[in-house]
Amino acid sequence: MTTQDNNLSRRDFLKLGIGALSALAVLEMSGVSLFFMQPRTLEGEFGGIVNAGPVDSFPAGSVVEFPDGRFFLIHAPDGGFLAVYSRCTHLGCTISWEADKNHFFCPCHASSFSATGDVQNPPAPRALDLFAITITDGQVLVDTGRITQRDRFTTDQLTYA
Ligand code: FES
Repeated sequence: MTTQDNNLSRRDFLKLGIGALSALAVLEMSGVSLFFMQPRTLEGEFGGIVNAGPVDSFPAGSVVEFPDGRFFLIHAPDGGFLAVYSRCTHLGCTISWEADKNHFFCPCHASSFSATGDVQNPPAPRALDLFAITITDGQVLVDTGRITQRDRFTTDQLTYA
């Protein structure tokens, strides 16, 4: 074996090593990318589907808060369901339900919303956002990953069992 052969094989070895390290780096980056692309929400948590419970457990005319899901479930007097996001449509403060006044209230700038989420008192520019509801096997399922903005309440937004 000549000196030139040794140099060539050393160069080839370095090329091979650099190639292997590059391939390893690409694999690591792919793995990290896949990890970060995984959905971050689990069933039952905000961003996923929350099982609010059996239809029968919500009397018509009731409003029930689900703090972990960040919504209020409204069972309208006619039997339809609405799930409103507990985030004010003005600047995003958390609203509360004031049963004695039959409205939602935002403590930040005093917007209020009716029992169906319509603006009663600005500065909120539009009705409370909605989450999609499906009723399956008598259970009210609220998809907190699907938010619908609306100007005002209309009866076609209600979901029936
Ligand atoms: S954030 Fe609710 S009124 Fe301003």
